[in-house]
Amino acid sequence: MKRLLYITSGIIALSSLTIGCVSRGNDTGWEYAPDMAYSKGYEPYNQGDSNLVNPYGMSMREPVPGTVAIGKATNHYALDNSAEGYEAAKAISFPADFEDNNQRGKYLFNIYCTPCHGTNGGNDGEIFKHGLGKPAWANFQDKYIKEIPVGQIYHTLTYGKNNMGSHAYALKPMDRWRVVRYVKQLSGASAEPAAAKDSTAVKPN
Ligand code: HEC
Repeated sequence: MKRLLYITSGIIALSSLTIGCVSRGNDTGWEYAPDMAYSKGYEPYNQGDSNLVNPYGMSMREPVPGTVAIGKATNHYALDNSAEGYEAAKAISFPADFEDNNQRGKYLFNIYCTPCHGTNGGNDGEIFKHGLGKPAWANFQDKYIKEIPVGQIYHTLTYGKNNMGSHAYALKPMDRWRVVRYVKQLSGASAEPAAAKDSTAVKPN
């Protein structure tokens, strides 16, 4: 009888221990030898303790200025964000392999540009309607947009200009050119890429 009592209380004690472990919901538990779990070496993709060598305590090093990711050489834009760069942009134009499948330029314009410039470039988007930093020219049908070199529009999309921010985060280089072309179409001026190809074939970018 006594032995049975021992066994039963043993089982109860054990199961309560187990339950105790299971129910410790947010407890991360114990960790011994953390330096085995976390490498003391500076591993670029693993931010452990604050790194004593690199700036801001980062394990990862910032790439050397001018670094281009593999396969992204065409993303490189050679002109500076400066008055000289803007001036030099007059000379650049649509890339030779330009194509705009499914009117992607129009599609992107309607996402990123209409909040300020409005659907038809009337500068009547919600933001401009509330009087926030409108440009000096009235709309995209204005002489200014009709005549501005396409390279300068591209430059402005890349770096931004005064109250217009850079759109490089949202538009890849070819997409920027597609939007540039749509801007020119809205203005009514013809500025067609030499090798403009349109097709309805779906292409991811
Ligand atoms: C936050 C509002 C805002 C958004 C969004 C915006 N723009 Fe602008 N945009 C401006 C303002 C303000 C100017 C006038 C800049 C200046 O000359 O001071 C401008 C200028 C321009 C110009 C004249 C460029 C030049 O070099 O003078 C073009 C073309 C243009 N925008 C097209 C676009 C396109 C295309 C998009 C979408 C990708 C876009 N904008 C998104 C506010 C905006």
